[in-house]
Amino acid sequence: MNPAQKPLKQRMTFAIISHPDSGKTTITEKLLLFGGAIHIAGAVKSGKNSRASVSDFMEIEKERGISISTSVMGFEYGGRKINILDTPGHADFSEDTYRGLSAVDSALLVIDSVKGVEERTRSLCEVCRMRRTPIATFINKLDREGKDPMEVLDEVERELGIGLCPITWPVGQGRSFKGVYDLQKKQLLLFFPGETRKPADTVAIKDLDDPLLLEKLGLPLAKKLKDDIALLSGVYPPFNKEDYLEGRVTPVFFGSAINNFGISELLDTLCVLAPPPSPKHSQERVVNPDEDKFTGFVFKIHANMNPRHRNRVAFLRICSGSFERNKSYYHVRAGKPFRSANPTAFMAQDSEIIEAAFPGDIIGINDTGSFKIGDTITEGEAINFRGIPSFAPQIFRYIVNADPLKEKQYKRGLDQLAEEGVVQIFSRPQQPNVRVLGVVGQLQLEVLQYRMEHEYGAKCNYKPIDLSLAHWFTAADPKVLEAFIDEQSRRILVDIRGEHVLMSESVWQFERTKANNPALSFYSTSELSGETA
Ligand code: G4P
Repeated sequence: MNPAQKPLKQRMTFAIISHPDSGKTTITEKLLLFGGAIHIAGAVKSGKNSRASVSDFMEIEKERGISISTSVMGFEYGGRKINILDTPGHADFSEDTYRGLSAVDSALLVIDSVKGVEERTRSLCEVCRMRRTPIATFINKLDREGKDPMEVLDEVERELGIGLCPITWPVGQGRSFKGVYDLQKKQLLLFFPGETRKPADTVAIKDLDDPLLLEKLGLPLAKKLKDDIALLSGVYPPFNKEDYLEGRVTPVFFGSAINNFGISELLDTLCVLAPPPSPKHSQERVVNPDEDKFTGFVFKIHANMNPRHRNRVAFLRICSGSFERNKSYYHVRAGKPFRSANPTAFMAQDSEIIEAAFPGDIIGINDTGSFKIGDTITEGEAINFRGIPSFAPQIFRYIVNADPLKEKQYKRGLDQLAEEGVVQIFSRPQQPNVRVLGVVGQLQLEVLQYRMEHEYGAKCNYKPIDLSLAHWFTAADPKVLEAFIDEQSRRILVDIRGEHVLMSESVWQFERTKANNPALSFYSTSELSGETA
């Protein structure tokens, strides 16, 4: 038997996604706490990156020890090896999050019961839906007076376009929050603020007419629970695991993360439900996790994780076979052999050098500058994994070196941070020194300046440029493509992969070019396989 096969079924690799402030950090921490991976609350500091200034953002990264933008936390629980990938909540770092979602097999969506579905919830779910990633949902902050749970469910179904199946159901909310009823196990889990529940606080209920229900909840709440359950069973079909695994239905849990309430049930259920490593699509073929030969892809690069060592770490998702320390592999884009003497696994607060890693695992490999995001590593097969695109930036600037004496540091910093995906850099084929910077959010511009200065000792300034759209493009006929590149040379730049990108000043300008060139297809991601513009 393939040695990777046994660990394969046990692994579950998922990302926690949410709008900032919904409680993602709190839940991550509580999952680690219940999973036995950490022992004191407070070990994972709240991100708060929704409000953070750039230096706060970097400070927070340091404070947490595990970076906000790169956290991978592995631990063993319930017979499974669990890998949680933390993703930045801030919209300015959405590219990072989208790439992170390419490296997981399922997602946990956190919704604030007071606010309901928010803007980031929508965009993140959209990405999951495109990839058919199974989503479990935790509706948080039931200890606060929030929206009616039925209303929240309606919103999720309507706005996120996904079917629902409540696994637990809240009894009261805010000050009258009494706990949740587990619809599958027919148990009432009683809530006491701030406390971790004792076994006696779980009450098994024979049916909804059980006198225990009345005794524990009082008449009004017991009656409401009965009415709610009757309504739910009329509206939502019974839970079907296949529908969840296909991304059609999300099982829904309710609780209060800050009060440790509902998290252990969530973790136990995820251990049973969450999918093992799934097949991954490459441009050439689908790669199954139980294949003997190793394959994996780099979905993230982080330079200077440890400022004292100035190292650069490439995050590798293992897709098939096993990755072994010191074994020689093939770096497809570079066409070169590659081996790692110290592949690293990330634990809750630590990292350790490992001998082998298996599908579903995310490991860090020391990178001396040879990797780029999206690179595939194999045992010799020339395949390229898909799903790690660059997204069309929305903000553009010329970038200039503000300290000519530090030209070398400036170039190195810019190249490395572009490869890391902090910003996108475009240049003119004939003038490689004229660089145009593209970002999705304003905060990325500030992060670039901060990191250039603090990590490379270089200073950069931005100058306005009249651009608002970028599109990658293809044509079936290479001659048509060549003629277009020639004709539009003034508007065409190249990205760091060497791909041509058409720049437009306005939607109108782009639409006109598109209408005049029907033989070309235009894309808003570098992958050229996603939606056409
Ligand atoms: P995020 O990572 O999604 O941005 O959210 P985070 O966990 O940082 O939580 C955002 C705020 O919500 C925090 O409060 C946190 O304590 C609070 N919170 C999380 N879970 C619950 C819950 O179940 N009930 C209630 N009432 N609050 C919850 P804060 O005041 O912004 O920060 P802090 O001072 O508590 O750290």
